[in-house]
Amino acid sequence: MEEKIAELRDVLKKADRVAVMTGAGISAESGVPTFRGDEGLWRNYRATDLATPQAFARDPELVWEFYNWRRDLISKVTYNPAHRALVELERLVPDFTLITQNVDGLHLLAGSQNLLEIHGNLWKVRCTKCHGITLDRSPDLGNLPKCKSCGGLLRPHVVWFGESLDPDILQQAVDVSRNCQVMLVIGTSSVVQPAASLAVEAKSAGAVLAEINLESTPHSRLMDFALHGKAGDIVPRLVEDWA
Ligand code: OAD
Repeated sequence: MEEKIAELRDVLKKADRVAVMTGAGISAESGVPTFRGDEGLWRNYRATDLATPQAFARDPELVWEFYNWRRDLISKVTYNPAHRALVELERLVPDFTLITQNVDGLHLLAGSQNLLEIHGNLWKVRCTKCHGITLDRSPDLGNLPKCKSCGGLLRPHVVWFGESLDPDILQQAVDVSRNCQVMLVIGTSSVVQPAASLAVEAKSAGAVLAEINLESTPHSRLMDFALHGKAGDIVPRLVEDWA
């Protein structure tokens, strides 16, 4: 493991263009539950069953209750050493882009700048009637929050299962993936599309791929480096001793 970390650090040091893809695993050590496995349960519901347009159409109060619970939880946590290390990596690499599937806003809070939040942001709400987007950091928005401009029902400004990503943001993420020399894939189960396909784009275009995850994923076999352990332990070591 030590040798692999040192080898990957050398690859990063030589690179001009680095992309990073993160998923829920990078925020796990901050105390944000991941989506799959036992952690992904809220009451008796799977998180992945509530984050859908169908669930919102059927029972918007339930979906808002779930999101208010997540907002409250996330308002009480902060970034961890892995988020911080990516801020440092951005400082060290000439051309750096962070693509995240996370909606928790912890990369922004840590100070990452060149960031694509491809699944949206939990702190933004969108009106289902006038489609206006606003930022609202209150931990609890109540049962059925309404738009201040038109009175329409608000929803979280996040991408739910079965919904399309913002085409401009997705295109930027694809371009970054095709152009990078190294891509780090951190704390994602690599099963949700199109996010998971970005690593495949990078690999096809000749990038070195590295996975940092507690366990193997469907993408582990594509990886030039598969580092298994906690993101909070491994990512900070990639930015040590660059001088
Ligand atoms: P998942 O919950 O599917 O996967 C989390 C991954 O992080 C798993 O592979 C874990 O092994 C790994 N992991 C957990 N703790 C870790 C740690 N401390 N260090 C390193 N790895 C760790 O989350 P995502 O892949 O992000 O969509 O899920 C993708 C999307 O599906 C999410 O963006 C969300 C979800 O439904 C939306 O919200 C639209």
